[in-house]
Amino acid sequence: MFKKKKQVSAPSPQRSLIAHFQPKSPISEQYRTLRTNIQFSNVDGEMRSLMVTSSKPGEGKSTTVANLAVVFAQQGKRVLLVDADLRKPTVHYTFRLENHIGLTNVLTKQTSWRSAIHSSDIDNLSVLTSGPIPPNPAELLASSFMKELLEELYSQFDVVLFDTPPILAVTDAQIIANLCDGSVLVTHSGQTPIEAAQKSKELLQAAKGKLLGVVLNQRKQEEGQYYYYYGTK
Ligand SMILES: Nc1ncnc2c1ncn2[C@@H]1O[C@H](COP(=O)(O)OP(=O)(O)OP(=O)(O)O)[C@@H](O)[C@H]1O
Ligand SMILES: [Mg+2]
Repeated sequence: MFKKKKQVSAPSPQRSLIAHFQPKSPISEQYRTLRTNIQFSNVDGEMRSLMVTSSKPGEGKSTTVANLAVVFAQQGKRVLLVDADLRKPTVHYTFRLENHIGLTNVLTKQTSWRSAIHSSDIDNLSVLTSGPIPPNPAELLASSFMKELLEELYSQFDVVLFDTPPILAVTDAQIIANLCDGSVLVTHSGQTPIEAAQKSKELLQAAKGKLLGVVLNQRKQEEGQYYYYYGTK
């Protein structure tokens, strides 16, 4: 007798994409605050390409970058979200898209970026899923064709956002950080050791990735602390 394999279900888009499904919630307001802070963080010019990473798995990179993509799109910007986590891609689950064709197919010149990009259910938001998981993610991301591809994408979209693997685990996030205007480090409140956050910061700096700030994710709301919607409906 074979035991039936337990299915691991991805979180539902309704849960993951709160900025889209519950735009008036206090959490969505926090994502808009993050967007504003990013936009004001670069005095020299616009922040057009941004990667999100964290020290370790499961700290909230994919959730943060997906909701950031939504709030940038809600501002009317043409946004592209790229799943550059070629180890454990999840963007296609979040946006309920096929992932037969994606970034890895473009990087191996099997298809053009135009035919690999999906439009999403959200206005102004396009998605480039990871594509099939390759044996050599870091080599693909560090290729000269990746650089050329990003230059092209940066000229076609107002904002390009990247989901990445954990920076302490593999080098991929450093490679992407070097190709972006800015980077954001997600930490899990009460869980991420300070040394891990510090080391991540050093790795981003070593890659010449401009660290814009740190997101304190999954912070428990303290008792007696209220967030409420301010304004008219
Ligand atoms: N702010 C949050 N509030 C509640 N749950 C969250 C929050 N951020 C992330 N999560 C949940 O934590 C889990 C991990 O989140 P997510 O997949 O975004 O992390 P990740 O850093 O991308 O993980 P991985 O390293 O595996 O790619 C998911 O179940 C997600 O729904
Ligand atoms: Mg992820």
